[in-house]
Amino acid sequence: MTLSIKKFLVTGGAGFIGGNFVAKVLSEEIGKVLVLDKLTYAGHRATLRSWEGSPAYRFVQGDIGDRQLVQQLFQEFQPNYIVNFAAESHVDRSIESADDFVETNIVGTYVLVDEALSYWQGLSGDEARSFRFHHISTDEVYGSLGATGYFTEQTPYAPNSPYSASKAASDHLVRAYHRTHQLPATISNCSNNYGSYQFPEKLIPLALLNALEDKPVPVYGDGLNIRDWLYVEDHCEAILQVLAHGQPGETYNVGGRCEMTNLDLLHTLFQCLKDQADLIREHTDYCIDVDYASLINFVPDRPGHDRRYAIDTGKIQRELGWTPRENLRTGLAKTVTWYVTHLDWCREVLKDNYDRRRLGSAKRTVSDP
Ligand code: NAD
Ligand code: TYD
Repeated sequence: MTLSIKKFLVTGGAGFIGGNFVAKVLSEEIGKVLVLDKLTYAGHRATLRSWEGSPAYRFVQGDIGDRQLVQQLFQEFQPNYIVNFAAESHVDRSIESADDFVETNIVGTYVLVDEALSYWQGLSGDEARSFRFHHISTDEVYGSLGATGYFTEQTPYAPNSPYSASKAASDHLVRAYHRTHQLPATISNCSNNYGSYQFPEKLIPLALLNALEDKPVPVYGDGLNIRDWLYVEDHCEAILQVLAHGQPGETYNVGGRCEMTNLDLLHTLFQCLKDQADLIREHTDYCIDVDYASLINFVPDRPGHDRRYAIDTGKIQRELGWTPRENLRTGLAKTVTWYVTHLDWCREVLKDNYDRRRLGSAKRTVSDP
């Protein structure tokens, strides 16, 4: 897609989706990028290493909730677009403690959108007209579906996890800043992403690494929970379409049209690993004669585990002409290739950080702090 050269302030750009978005903007020479990222356990300079030294790219380590820093960066960089990826993003961690989720997803987004309003009010003419604040959110704000039906932009919010509740609060703040103050803000609510640079705590990269290492792959509950899987590069393209053609004040649902139970997803992933046995042999020391399916290990269910997510992508398709390019098979094949050839990245981001143990498995009891 084409956007004239613009300046993107990308929060959370050292994370999974933000990192892919930065790569798209820079590699396709769509614009200049300033990344603001706190570098939590989920954010890593290694994700952005190939852009270091590029005149179109600058990185600042900092918090979206740091009002003074945010104000200073807006004034220095004069962004045309602010794209807010920064968040605590893992449901299981929000079950263990919601502190950081409230701090970043709610309070941080509030500071960012509030400062964006002041910045936008100082713009004039075309700069003011074309400015956008785009907030990245999730389909999890809509809660859980039964066996049928789809989330649309009209589905009432009914978040079930501390993570999705904090995202819902941030969506409401962004929407309110448009309704109350006319800030040209848009929101997208997307389904489960997968692809390169995803921190190995989420199902696909965790299962992929465990399978390669011949370790058990934890499956929560009966494994029949359904997610709609979206290849991350398709998501990034959708965001660019919303920035270029979306209407201020509107929400766009983004999904991969790839509904699948967790068990079916894992079997598809294992087939991709088998298909790429030669690549695994060439790039790693891992044994390729593993019966991956035998690694499936049913473990107690996640508390509050949403049963099914499914997205009606009709609005973004009709109004902005966006549809996903990848299906699960092609997207997973690319993802497997990327991880097998980037095991150094995995080791670097996991080191002293996360040992792939189960998180958020138990309901909190009174004696827990
Ligand atoms: P991620 O956890 O991989 O990355 C989050 C990034 O935000 C990290 O780089 C982290 O360092 C940074 N960050 C955290 N707190 C910050 C703060 N206070 N200030 C500045 N930076 C901070 O997350 P992701 O999977 O890339 O998700 C990006 C966005 O997309 C999130 O808002 C998430 O809710 C949303 N989302 C993700 C998915 C998915 O499947 N991953 C699906 C739907 C929506
Ligand atoms: P996850 O990747 O954490 O994304 P989300 O919770 O945002 O959907 O989980 C995807 C699905 O996989 C979800 O139904 C929980 C399940 N799951 C497992 O069965 N085992 C795991 O080890 C993980 C991390 C998730």
